[in-house]
Amino acid sequence: MDSERAAREQAVTDEVVASFGGAGSDRYRELMQSLVRHLHGFAREVRLTQGEWDAAIAFLTRVGHLTDERRQEFILLSDVLGLSMLTIGINMPASAGATESTVFGPFFVDGAPEIPLGGDLAQGAKGTPCYVSGQVRAVDGAPLAGVRVDAWQADEDGRYDIQYEGDRTQGRGWQRTGGDGGYRFWSVLPTAYPIPHDGPVGELLTAAGREPMRPAHLHFKVAAPGYRPLITHVFVDGDPYLRSDAVFGVKDSLIGRFTEHTGGTAPDGSPRHGRWTQVTLDLVLARQDSS
Ligand code: BEZ
Ligand code: FE
Repeated sequence: MDSERAAREQAVTDEVVASFGGAGSDRYRELMQSLVRHLHGFAREVRLTQGEWDAAIAFLTRVGHLTDERRQEFILLSDVLGLSMLTIGINMPASAGATESTVFGPFFVDGAPEIPLGGDLAQGAKGTPCYVSGQVRAVDGAPLAGVRVDAWQADEDGRYDIQYEGDRTQGRGWQRTGGDGGYRFWSVLPTAYPIPHDGPVGELLTAAGREPMRPAHLHFKVAAPGYRPLITHVFVDGDPYLRSDAVFGVKDSLIGRFTEHTGGTAPDGSPRHGRWTQVTLDLVLARQDSS
């Protein structure tokens, strides 16, 4: 490209960057000026055509039209672009000894029921029974008692309760850790499932030759005063999608061993008939002020 044309293009960028110079907040100015530089840099690098830009606007318009209180296509877009995981990595850097964070996802629901320690979180969700337990503790090993642990998951058909007609509540709930920091509940073995892919984000995945699948997992949210909130999963070891998660959420430290059993006695002393599974995941929290 001739230097005169390059200079004209750069002048557009410089003018827009300067237009944010008077922003009321330093942070807002930093964000907007950097965004403009990167957006313009992208357009210049790929020599964006008018047709491509029109298609991008039409795509984002469809993402917006599909988004409402029940369907968040923008978050899904951020997830499949890896921006959600990058932002988590920036804000929740791995802290030595603490459990790692991963994506929150769109299937958490406020108002889930309290499940007593050892109780049933499945509430009729389909699947092989799974005994889930562990300890919530600080990095220094101190057990954290009375801490709220939320858990939610898909059933053996790979669907969350809110994806069914009606308003069933299954496969979700919360409990407080006991005096030893322990939590425990019965649920079902989670199954791999596709993220919602009947909208523009699904088209993006298809165009890229990517699958919409997430490896089987169980979600956790843990909040304890004085500690960094933890949003994480335990993934099922051996799942075929562990290396191709559509939202890039897998971390090796979060892959759990789900042991299989037939009959016998469960860890809570209950006699079992038929197949059941068990996983243990300790949830280790970093102090709020740790780096
Ligand atoms: C989930 O695991 O629930 C999820 C995360 C990101 C996008 C879609 C679903
Ligand atoms: Fe999920």
